[in-house]
Amino acid sequence: MNICELGLGHCAVIANLHAESFTENWSTQAFADLVGLPATFGFLAFDCENDDPFGFILCQGDNIEAEIITIATRPAIRRQGVAGALLKAACAQTARMFLEVATDNLSAISFYEKHGFAKIGVRKNYYKRSDGALVNALVYEFTA
Ligand SMILES: CC(C)(COP(=O)(O)OP(=O)(O)OC[C@H]1O[C@@H](n2cnc3c(N)ncnc32)[C@H](O)[C@@H]1OP(=O)(O)O)[C@@H](O)C(=O)NCCC(=O)NCCS
Repeated sequence: MNICELGLGHCAVIANLHAESFTENWSTQAFADLVGLPATFGFLAFDCENDDPFGFILCQGDNIEAEIITIATRPAIRRQGVAGALLKAACAQTARMFLEVATDNLSAISFYEKHGFAKIGVRKNYYKRSDGALVNALVYEFTA
């Protein structure tokens, strides 16, 4: 597996990766708008033999503090360390990394806790599901 920095040329690829992992659709243009912002950074993991994309992480912030906007690994290759490698690359760019995760996203909560993130708060009714249900978010922090 290789990891490279995200650039504008990756936006169609990461829109497809995102669509495989989330019900809410973010277009290629939506990613281009985000990736084009000066404070946005991220990484793409891909197969070094055929360039097939494995997963990505997108963050916003600077070397003092930043937050994870989104992270995803293709469903077929989860639990093989892809997101862990992406998280490590992103956390190396900043002293404090924050994120929000839905209280019912148990695999992501386990993932962040495994990688040393600590829960620091709760945001009530933060997410609205397509059926109208409101879900709390947990706020996590990682300090280098
Ligand atoms: C969360 C996610 C990014 C993890 O990606 P990954 O490449 O599988 O992560 P890694 O292989 O580096 O880490 C695996 C660890 O994550 C956690 N984990 C991943 N999938 C899990 C599952 N189905 N059930 C429980 N824990 C899980 C575990 O702690 C696991 O460690 P273990 O295998 O030793 O138990 C991936 O599940 C994903 O893309 N989910 C959908 C998108 C999403 O919810 N993103 C986070 C939004 S806040």
